[in-house]
Formats: sequence, C-alpha cells, structure tokens
Amino acid sequence: MRHAGLYLHLVPWYPEDGGTHRLFRGLHMSIQSENDLVKLLRIGRIVGLTLKAMQDALEPGMTTAQLDAIGAAFLKQHSARSAPQITYQFPGATCISINDEAAHGIPGSRVIQPGDLVNIDVSAELDGFFADTGATMPVPPTSDEQQRLCDFTQAALDRALEAVTAGKPINVIGKAVETEARRGGYNIIRELGGHGIGRKLHEEPRNVPNFFTKRASHPLTEGLVLTIEPFLTTGIGRVVTADDGWTLKTPNGALAAQYEHTVVITKGKPILITAV
Ligand code: CO
Ligand code: CO
Repeated sequence: MRHAGLYLHLVPWYPEDGGTHRLFRGLHMSIQSENDLVKLLRIGRIVGLTLKAMQDALEPGMTTAQLDAIGAAFLKQHSARSAPQITYQFPGATCISINDEAAHGIPGSRVIQPGDLVNIDVSAELDGFFADTGATMPVPPTSDEQQRLCDFTQAALDRALEAVTAGKPINVIGKAVETEARRGGYNIIRELGGHGIGRKLHEEPRNVPNFFTKRASHPLTEGLVLTIEPFLTTGIGRVVTADDGWTLKTPNGALAAQYEHTVVITKGKPILITAV
C-alpha cells in the first residue's frame, strides 16, 4: 500500500468525543525482561550509530541517495533492516528531509547544497526489535535562523526527556515541547508526533502529541517504549504531502526541524535507547 507511508508519524487529531483510552487501544510494547532490554538497546545503538555515520558523511555536493546508501550499508553491516522499508515499502533505507521538508523525504538525485538544513531519520529492526532516531543539521554556511530553530527543537526534546517518568500523564511530553516552542516563538507541527515502538515501528500509543491536550492524560507506565520527536517550524505548524506521495512539507516554504529518541519509561529517568 503505497500511501501507507503517509502515516509513518502522523498524529490524527483527537476526536472531540474520544477518550484517552483510545491511546492504548491495542497491545503496546512494554519491557518484560532483561533480554527484551538488551535487544532493544542493541538496535537502538545501531540506529544511533547509523545516524551519526550519516551526519559525519554529510557534505554539500552529495546526493541524498548517496547519503542514504551510507546509512543502508551501515545497517546491513550490523544485520539490521530498514524499518520504513520493511514496514511501509518506503523507497529508501532512511528518510532525508531538507529545508521545508519536515519528514519522510525520499532519498534520490537531489544534490545537497551549502546552506541546506538536513533532517535524517533512521529507524530499523534487528531480531524482532525496532528503534527510531532522528536529527536535523545545517550544512554550512549556517544561518542564525537555522541554528536557532535547531537549538530550540533540540531543547524541546531534552525538556520532554526530563519530564517523562512512570506515573506521569503522557501529556507531560506535549507540555514540555510547547513550553520550549513558545519560548523560541516557533509553531509545533501538530500533525506529527511520537509513537509507541518496540516489536513494530509504530504501535500503541499511536499518538504522542507534541502539544498539551487533556485527552492525552493516560499515565506513562514503567517499561513502556516510545519515541519522543518534537517538530518545530518557523511557519504555521502544518504539513502538506508533496507530489511524490511521501514527503511532508510545510505549506509555504518555512523551515522545519525534528530531533528524536526512542526511550524506555522507568520510575526515574528514561533509558535513552538510541543515544550513542
Ligand atoms: Co523517526
Ligand atoms: Co518516529
């Protein structure tokens, strides 16, 4: 199903009459054993290192397909499989989104230019476990506008990571992201958010909103595995689907940035699965 990919990170609007139980309608990944955690940490480290290898290789003049090939080779070398490829038949090993592209950019013949703002999102599977990470990086010369957007989006992720603890409601994430976005004067792309992950790329909770809503009041539970991934923009906080059927772009050319980690919720600080 070609356009299944559109739903990779999409957060549907909460229905007016919907209860918070909708968040946990199905089975969700929860760490049951030490062995689960070891396997999750293994794939988390691989996707983290893949992202790092791609960031290290990123330079103007290369195509996004060449950059993707570096990620694909790294995943293969570690026996991991690209999650968007095996889950949604995404036409690339990783998602590479530039400037006004917020997510799900298809690697291809586009040549990376000096001054581009490049988001790389890597998710993969090994031994039945999935992890997902992403980051945005300017290609010099870097404008103050790009750097500031990146700094605030990174800060939004950091603040959300500090806020998540077992027993707290899931909306502490949206609250933290919103606080940081407001401080920087940015809008949140509300259609995009985090998600449960673990034995699949996307599982319950399907929607981890990057904005505060009372409806996301379900408590975070010990062992729950999810991604936190704020998307901030200099524009109006919406995305449209590009003609390729995959790429999500801001409607008016505004910049977008995203940073993402996969975490396991604990009674204390979360375990950062994808930090390297
Ligand atoms: Co991702
Ligand atoms: Co994700």
